[in-house]
Amino acid sequence: MALILGIESTCDETACALVEDGLRVRSEVISSQVDLHQRYGGVVPEIASRAHIEKIIPVIEQTLLQGGYANVRAGLAAIDAVAVAHRPGLIGSLLIGVTAAKTLAWALGKPLIGVDHVQAHLYSVMLDQQVTPRLPAIGLVASGGHTALYHINSFTEITRIGGTIDDAVGEAYDKVSAILRLGYPGGPVIDRLSATGNPAADQFPRTLLGRESLDFSFSGLKTAVLYRVRGFQGRALDPDRLSPSEVADIAASFQAACVDTISKKLQRALQQTHAKSIIIGGGVSANRGLRDRLAKFNVPVYFPLMRYCTDNAGMSAGLAHLYYEQQQFSDLGMDAITFSQM
Ligand code: KG4
Ligand code: ZN
Repeated sequence: MALILGIESTCDETACALVEDGLRVRSEVISSQVDLHQRYGGVVPEIASRAHIEKIIPVIEQTLLQGGYANVRAGLAAIDAVAVAHRPGLIGSLLIGVTAAKTLAWALGKPLIGVDHVQAHLYSVMLDQQVTPRLPAIGLVASGGHTALYHINSFTEITRIGGTIDDAVGEAYDKVSAILRLGYPGGPVIDRLSATGNPAADQFPRTLLGRESLDFSFSGLKTAVLYRVRGFQGRALDPDRLSPSEVADIAASFQAACVDTISKKLQRALQQTHAKSIIIGGGVSANRGLRDRLAKFNVPVYFPLMRYCTDNAGMSAGLAHLYYEQQQFSDLGMDAITFSQM
C-alpha cells in the first residue's frame, strides 16, 4: 500500500490529506477561510496567504494524528510521498503549500509530486467511491475559478476542449448572491433557495455562443440578474424591497439558466467526441439542480462525493498516486504557477 500526503492551498482552503493507493482517504483536515473573506464578498489574496501561513502546520499535524498515528513523527515516517497542488491558483496562497511540501519532502527524503488543481478536481470522483469511469469521458470542472470542458483519455491524458470566455459559473453564483445580498459563497445558498422558487419566473439568457461552440459565457447572465434586481436606464429598483418569494424566484431562474447552459454544452461535447461518460468536479458539482438534470442523461455521469466537490487535498494526493506508480517525481526547484497548463 502506498500512502501519499497531499497539500492544498491554491485559494482559500488550507487542507491536508492522507490517501491510500490513490483511492481511500484515510484522513483529511480542511481549514476554510470563508469567515475571513465573507464581508468582502470574495477572496482577498493577501488575507488568504496570511491565513495559509497560520494554518498550514497545524492542519498537517492534525491530518497525521487523525490518520491514526501516535504522534506526528510516526505519521511522517509512514508516508511514501508528498503531493501538492502547485498550479493554478493565487500565487501567495500556492507558495505556502508548495513551500511546506518541498520542505517536508526534503527533510524526510521522500519524493515530491506537484499536481494540477483542475486535473485533481476531475480525479476527485475516484475518492472513496469504488467507481471505474468509462473512458474516454467528457470532463467538466465548474468552480469559482474555472469552468472548462475536457476530453479525458485517462486521468493523466486530458485535453481541454472548451472553457469560459469571461466568468466562471461559480463566480456568477457568488456575484448573483452578492446582488441578492445572500452572502458568500453564493452557490450553496442559491442552490437551497432554488428548490423553493419558480425557475420559469424570469427568462434569463442561456448564452451558447456559436452553434458548435464548447465555450461558456456567464457575464451576460450575471448582468441580466443585476438589471432584474436593480433596474436599468433610470428605472432604479431597491433590492431590499424584493419579497423572499421574489428572491427565491430569481435564484431559481438564475440556476435554471446555469443548468440549461451546462447541460446543453455537455450534450454538444458528447455528440462531437462520442465519449462514453461524463466526469464532473469543482465546487459547482455539489449543485442539486445540476445533479438532478444530469441524472437524466443516457451516459453515466460521475460526481464526486459532496465532501470532495469543493477544494480539498484528498484529490491531489489521489491524483499524485498515478505519477507515483510511474515514478514521475518533481524536483525541489518546482514552481508555484498561477495558471493551469491543461
Ligand atoms: O472548487 P471550489 O471550492 O474552489 C475553486 O477552485 O474555485 O469552488 C468554489 C465555488 C464557489 O464559487 C461556490 O459558490 C461554488 O463553488 N459552489 C456551488 C455550490 N457549492 C459551492 N455552486 C453551485 N451550487 C452549489 N451547491
Ligand atoms: Zn478548486
